[in-house]
Amino acid sequence: MANIVIDRIRKSFGAFQALKEVSLTINDGEFVSLLGPSGCGKTTLLRIIAGLETSTSGDVRIGDRSIIGLAPKDRGLAMVFQNYAVFPHMTVYENVAFGLRMQKADDTRVKAQVEKAAGLLHIEPYLDRYPNKLSGGQRQRVAVARALAVQPKVLLMDEPLSNLDALLRLEMRTELKTVLQSAGTTTIYVTHDQTEAMGLSDRIAVMHNGVVEQVGHPVEIYNHPATRFVGGFIGNPPMNFIKVPVSNGQVAAGEEQLAAPKDVGNEIVLGLRGEAVELAPLPQGLEMKVRVAEPMGSHLLLTGSIHDQPVRVILPASETVKSGDTIGLKLDSKRITWLSPESGKSFPALLA
Ligand SMILES: Nc1ncnc2c1ncn2[C@@H]1O[C@H](COP(=O)(O)OP(=O)(O)OP(=O)(O)O)[C@@H](O)[C@H]1O
Ligand SMILES: [Mg+2]
Repeated sequence: MANIVIDRIRKSFGAFQALKEVSLTINDGEFVSLLGPSGCGKTTLLRIIAGLETSTSGDVRIGDRSIIGLAPKDRGLAMVFQNYAVFPHMTVYENVAFGLRMQKADDTRVKAQVEKAAGLLHIEPYLDRYPNKLSGGQRQRVAVARALAVQPKVLLMDEPLSNLDALLRLEMRTELKTVLQSAGTTTIYVTHDQTEAMGLSDRIAVMHNGVVEQVGHPVEIYNHPATRFVGGFIGNPPMNFIKVPVSNGQVAAGEEQLAAPKDVGNEIVLGLRGEAVELAPLPQGLEMKVRVAEPMGSHLLLTGSIHDQPVRVILPASETVKSGDTIGLKLDSKRITWLSPESGKSFPALLA
């Protein structure tokens, strides 16, 4: 079994708390992304799991065994670093073979595994070259190939695709998903790219300022963010947040009355995904002033305001709204997230 239990990990650098108390369980064979903005503690957490950094307190277990006291090489995991460290004095072939040589694998196995990993990452033409004759993206692929070549039970990857161009990134993303799924590898994948995390992950852990704000299936996190931070970080455009008055337990959206959660004050924040709307005539619909209309081909992106608060919504490409128009919107009431104006937490999360 290669499930990983991260149990109340804290990490301070001097007075600065980089990780505040992070607990997370990654199941055997699962692909979990750590997603969050720069500086939120993703690399620090990964380095603690790998044994390259010591935690201030807390435990990490693989299976039932605590690995916190073990040397990195005894932890049975492979890691791809954010700065894709490759050995400059070794050819690409030897770089990819490195972990297998450490395991004293015979030449036949080394050759088979190196070729397989190199094929997957499209680096076969460079196997005889030294890393200083490669581009950043090629070097990064060598680092990923080196980690895959040992067929680890647990794989830790820190922004492994960040140096690739958009097309290659998309292709590698799909291939990584396929190969890791078929090998049953337990993977922790660090990224600040929400599209990548959504596409790859069985579950996403959204991190912010050294804490995990929410863990869940990508679609669940997208539709039901636990906090304003999560809703704003996930999705393009991000979730809209509109502060609205509550009267008699209801919120007016044009002529329609929406039921607010019980026991709220006289204001609430309405969290609305940009695509959870459709055009409606005024005054039935909720009024939106459109500042800019951008036809994107696949859809129409509208930037403007509702109740004088900034919003972005998405309509089908066939709609003919123009910059400067005032339009009405019908909100999909099933897709609204209600949040507390004070804490920024969503109401189901508050009740839990
Ligand atoms: N050795 C260190 N000494 C002091 N502070 C550190 C050290 N390493 C990391 N930090 C701080 O801890 C916080 C978390 O850093 P970390 O590298 O984990 O962020 P990250 O989420 O990986 O960000 P990025 O997306 O930019 O890679 C940052 O504020 C960083 O400045
Ligand atoms: Mg990092």
